[in-house]
Amino acid sequence: MDANDMGSDLQKILLTEAQIQNRLAQMAAVIDQDYVGHEILLVGVLRGAVMVMADLARKLHTPVAMDWMAVSSYGSGTKSSGVVRILKDLDTDIKDRHVLIVEDIIDSGLTLSWLESNLRGRGCASLNIAALLRKPDAAKTTISPRYVGFDIPNEFVVGYGLDYAEKYRNLPFVGLLAPHVYE
Ligand code: PRP
Repeated sequence: MDANDMGSDLQKILLTEAQIQNRLAQMAAVIDQDYVGHEILLVGVLRGAVMVMADLARKLHTPVAMDWMAVSSYGSGTKSSGVVRILKDLDTDIKDRHVLIVEDIIDSGLTLSWLESNLRGRGCASLNIAALLRKPDAAKTTISPRYVGFDIPNEFVVGYGLDYAEKYRNLPFVGLLAPHVYE
């Protein structure tokens, strides 16, 4: 899928495919340095993190295992409430493992805040967060991701895993959704 397929639904490209891939390569290099001598358990948060997980994992030289969680926020409409329900739990026992949560975006931060404390309670050896995108102006809680790709404005973004009504996840770039689509 590319920009042409979006037609007038695309306001503009915020991050190109090249920018995303270059930044992920930088993040992977730092992660490799930080985890020398360890194996990482990458935990992807379905569904948005699929693209980041696939590309980041392939840029790492550190040995990794991969697992997935699916969570759902209780809340009205699209607003995150911070009350989270596990739809699919990990298949892996993370006790004594070095866990790196992989996310596409930190919006309010409520999902990751909950996930972080849930996973810490399982006795992992270490826990860090890698997120491609973060919206500082949308933060409702303080979380400290160790690896962040880009800080972006608090606007409706799609692509590279992020959807609008399940569409546009398969764009290779991150774009701003035109307001006429959701207003
Ligand atoms: C998105 C994103 C994060 C969460 C961030 O997932 O992938 O998991 O929202 O929002 P927060 O910081 O406000 O909690 P979403 O619930 O849209 O599900 P999806 O990954 O299946 O698209």
